[in-house]
Amino acid sequence: MRIVLLGPPGAGKGTQAVRLAERYEVPHVSTGDILRFVVAWKTEIGLLAKSYMDEGELVPDDLVLELLRIRLAQDDARVGFVLDGFPRTLPQAEALDKILAEIGHAIDVALDLRVPTELIVLRLSARASCPTCGRTYNLLASPPKEDMICNRDGSPLFQRDDDRPEVITQRLGVFQRQTFPLVKYYEDRGLLRPVDGQGSEDEVLERMTDAIDAVPGKVR
Ligand code: AP5
Repeated sequence: MRIVLLGPPGAGKGTQAVRLAERYEVPHVSTGDILRFVVAWKTEIGLLAKSYMDEGELVPDDLVLELLRIRLAQDDARVGFVLDGFPRTLPQAEALDKILAEIGHAIDVALDLRVPTELIVLRLSARASCPTCGRTYNLLASPPKEDMICNRDGSPLFQRDDDRPEVITQRLGVFQRQTFPLVKYYEDRGLLRPVDGQGSEDEVLERMTDAIDAVPGKVR
């Protein structure tokens, strides 16, 4: 399965991508995680990426595309992937289609997670993430068993620099302007499946897997 997850910041893409990847036995590919990894190395490219991320702006397409190309060329991504946070712009969507067409593949489905803005702000303000396994926690609704420690691997959790209120507002604006047009892009190709992102993580997962399992010709 080659799955694209669309949806605003805080919609639950990362949370569900981890679970979908386990279920369909494909890697979870998050450009946000890849960029945060690059930023941590404090190289020239990392510092450039950080300057955009800290302001809630998108990192330039050419840099993100280069990183994605490298990731999708790895062996585990040959069988499929769950793409989280990519594509974010029309040129990224077109480039992804081209990369896949070169190896005889295509996107199977684009799931569009829909969540009201008030809930997004609440979720992002209460988010903690694991740097090791990528799992996210809602510190209000589903906190870890031990304070700020990942249930799965015991790593200390962190809160993201871009989850400050002013950056959240900026990211939501960028989403509306630059990423929302992708809904039509995938709709025009018959690949879009809107999914209600409200409710418990299990409820949302069930809606997403129902949508995926209804894709004609789906290969698990
Ligand atoms: P990225 O890391 O992709 O962030 P984002 O798209 O803004 O999305 P988030 O990770 O904030 O939200 P999410 O939808 O994954 O929600 P989550 O599951 O964590 O990008 C960060 C930055 O990197 C960008 O601003 C940009 O600068 C750059 N970037 C990345 N990709 C790029 C690209 N392709 N091009 C250019 N630049 C790029 O959930 C949020 C919270 O809600 C968590 O606490 C979670 O536990 C909780 N939650 C989730 N589901 C539920 C539920 N059902 N009930 C209760 N709580 C829930």
